[in-house]
Amino acid sequence: MCGWPLLLLWALLSGAAAGGSGRALPHHTVLDPQGEYWLSWGPRGGRLAFRLEVRTAGYVGFGFSPTGAMAAADIVVGGVAQGRPYLQDYFTNANRELKKDAQQDYHLEYAMENSTHTIIEFTRELHTCDINDKSITESTVRVIWAYHHEDVGEAGPKYHDSNRGTKSLRLLNHETSKVLPTVVPYFDLVNQDVPIPNKGTTYWCQMFKIPVFQEKHHVIKVEPVIQRGHESLVHHILLYQCSSSFNDSILDYGHECYHPNMPDAFLTCETVIFAWAIGGEGFSYPPHVGLSLGTPLDPRYVLLEVHYDNPTYKEGLIDNSGLRLFHTTDIRKYDAGVIEAGLWVSLFHTIPPGMPEFRSEGHCTLECLEEALEAEKPSGIHVFAVLLHAHLAGRGIRLRHFRKGEEMRLLAYDDDFDFNFQEFQYLKEEQTILPGDNLITECRYNTKDRARMTWGGLSTRNEMCLSYLLYYPRINLTRCASIPDIMEQLQFIGVKEIYRPVTENKQGGGKGEGQADSSLSTQSPPWSSILQPGGHDPEPKPRVGHLID
Ligand SMILES: *[C@@H]1O[C@H](CO)[C@@H](O)[C@H](O)[C@H]1NC(C)=O
Ligand SMILES: *[C@@H]1O[C@H](CO)[C@@H](O)[C@H](O)[C@H]1NC(C)=O
Ligand SMILES: *[C@@H]1O[C@H](CO)[C@@H](O)[C@H](O)[C@H]1NC(C)=O
Repeated sequence: MCGWPLLLLWALLSGAAAGGSGRALPHHTVLDPQGEYWLSWGPRGGRLAFRLEVRTAGYVGFGFSPTGAMAAADIVVGGVAQGRPYLQDYFTNANRELKKDAQQDYHLEYAMENSTHTIIEFTRELHTCDINDKSITESTVRVIWAYHHEDVGEAGPKYHDSNRGTKSLRLLNHETSKVLPTVVPYFDLVNQDVPIPNKGTTYWCQMFKIPVFQEKHHVIKVEPVIQRGHESLVHHILLYQCSSSFNDSILDYGHECYHPNMPDAFLTCETVIFAWAIGGEGFSYPPHVGLSLGTPLDPRYVLLEVHYDNPTYKEGLIDNSGLRLFHTTDIRKYDAGVIEAGLWVSLFHTIPPGMPEFRSEGHCTLECLEEALEAEKPSGIHVFAVLLHAHLAGRGIRLRHFRKGEEMRLLAYDDDFDFNFQEFQYLKEEQTILPGDNLITECRYNTKDRARMTWGGLSTRNEMCLSYLLYYPRINLTRCASIPDIMEQLQFIGVKEIYRPVTENKQGGGKGEGQADSSLSTQSPPWSSILQPGGHDPEPKPRVGHLID
């Protein structure tokens, strides 16, 4: 470790305080459960800068992968060997073979090593025009990481064994973490001693009452409060607004979410008012906007949904994590609102099994928006952040925006959606929605590994296709969603005639001869029993009829 180049020593001294080149990077997250691999990143001169700080004196690897695995990934490996920094651009093919990239697109900016740690800092273009590199977009990326106690030798990097992992992040996050100007009061919505089951995934739900304020307040910032040591256990947190017509008895118990025994009151909590995901840093409202509390229109009961990720099935974990809401009586100019747009969550949302790619779309129609906007805000509303939401089969979501038939800039997109990484994305610039506009939430699903139909619903194995728009000024519209045309879908899958399930023993209603239902009532659809594949009928015979020609 002796004889470091002068340049490195100089960099070490000048950057000592920041542990890097000295230029602060706005985003910071830990990648491994032990807290030994830290990533910072942020824009720098049209490029993206990364800093890796890892507890090793060997090499450090980092990359972007389509699935989070090592195949077909864009990888960079660096370190300091005999006082000399190195950084090499690699890629892997489909067989996970590591190859040096002929076009080197990563630029080393800084490197430091002491007896325990390595820090390297580098930049790259978002789009390198190299087929072996991944483009960095606003979509979620699966970053992969690895390290080894030895540096890269003549034969290339040695295999890293279990010192590796993956994490979903959004690298082009437009939030610049805003430091609050003064000391601002806050309250916490934090779980009390939740026993984490020793299984991979747990969704824990707990209701909270918002403190009672005598006057109007604005929440201006929300931060995660993660129990020390649980930084990788707490995976994401959603906060929903619930019905206000409860008494405090519902606050007494938490429960696993989406569970059959879950209290009914939880089902009234539908509108997401805040979302945080691992790697996210909390959410600041724009300087002219706040989330109103203390007036009759405001949330009184909220539901905190915490997703715990326990991949090693650890036993006996007790968690006390949640959210901190900073609020002020120094009221900002506008109240924030949330609109849920997309596909109404119901059994009418159907996704066939075995599909590598299937699209659903939900419409927030011109008529729906016009009615709400004309009455209250003819000059429009301004969207500043969007949360895109689907469940486990979701692969991509786009929120499209149309004005008089012309498509505007996408409000938000994620072409690599990861259910386990959900947060509000800030728009680069506020986007105005005017009366006469309409929105389409377009979702792409993969059900290749499913043998049965997927239906719209609340459980993570059911699906959704939603976007939550954070906007101002608040109008009286919380949901703008559509229901698919069931007739069209049935026709598409080849249904010729609909029979009511035979339940009554009416005369003439013999077996296999149900009543044709020409009205196709849209209430309490019995279709699930008719359409469920692999039902009781071993070989459903095509039914010829006159209902759909
Ligand atoms: C090595 O550097 C790291 C990162 O700056 C620092 O946390 C650690 O304390 C240093 N170790 C020694 C032995 O100086
Ligand atoms: C609170 O609500 C529960 C059910 O919602 C009801 O059984 C109970 O009597 C209520 N308590 C009070 C004090 O109103
Ligand atoms: C919002 O709209 C609904 C439905 O049109 C109406 O019932 C309700 O009173 C309105 N609330 C406010 C505060 O205007």
